[in-house]
Amino acid sequence: MTGYGRARLERASVISERIHLRPIIADDASAAFALIHEQPAITDWIEWDGPERVEELEESYAAWPTDTDEMTGYMFAVIERASGDWAGSVDIRHLKEHPVATLGYLIGSPFQGRGLATEAVGHLVQLAFEELSVLLVRAEVFEGNQASIRVLEKSGLRREEGREITCEKRGLQVTKHIYSISRVEWELSAPARAAWQVSASRAD
Ligand SMILES: CC(C)(COP(=O)(O)OP(=O)(O)OC[C@H]1O[C@@H](n2cnc3c(N)ncnc32)[C@H](O)[C@@H]1OP(=O)(O)O)[C@@H](O)C(=O)NCCC(=O)NCCS
Repeated sequence: MTGYGRARLERASVISERIHLRPIIADDASAAFALIHEQPAITDWIEWDGPERVEELEESYAAWPTDTDEMTGYMFAVIERASGDWAGSVDIRHLKEHPVATLGYLIGSPFQGRGLATEAVGHLVQLAFEELSVLLVRAEVFEGNQASIRVLEKSGLRREEGREITCEKRGLQVTKHIYSISRVEWELSAPARAAWQVSASRAD
């Protein structure tokens, strides 16, 4: 399905109780490298094994927003407001063939357990429904990633039973569960809404 009024976000940011989400930039790489490189608490739970060199992150962060045949993706830095520190990153991929967005996120170990991911994921879900006009928001979670499952459930996403998929991680097959929330479910849950600052154009 194409042509459902796809928006392209030129810039988006939001400030809320604990966090500031703003577009990721190459200058974020060194703070991110310290939190991700050789940090199994992060890389055991995501398909990517993390960066080997800080330059890899610089290049990858400079490339967002990113366009492929399948999606337009946006990545945000999560800045903890209390400290001003770079705490993690979140991303949203807006699929081109279907009105669906998928989420990704990580929060560095020193910043975990403070509600930052829950706040950020809530904001991304809002952005997806209000600004990208998708009908469904999805995330894929490795089996056993209870912290991430909790974040998704607190944000209103539910497991799609019987829709497990597998991926390869360090030579092993890993089961991933799919979590999702529809636009109707989100509207009915009367979620708290954050004040996103967005400039957008139409992509098609
Ligand atoms: C998942 C992750 C983003 C959570 O970040 P966070 O900022 O600590 O999350 P929050 O503080 O918002 O919420 C975490 C929730 O999980 C709970 N939790 C943490 N570890 C848990 C565990 N082992 N079992 C059950 N619940 C757990 C916390 O208690 C909290 O729930 P609560 O508010 O009801 O107490 C972070 O742990 C991370 O980056 N992990 C590695 C990368 C990753 O898994 N990314 C997601 C891929 S799908």
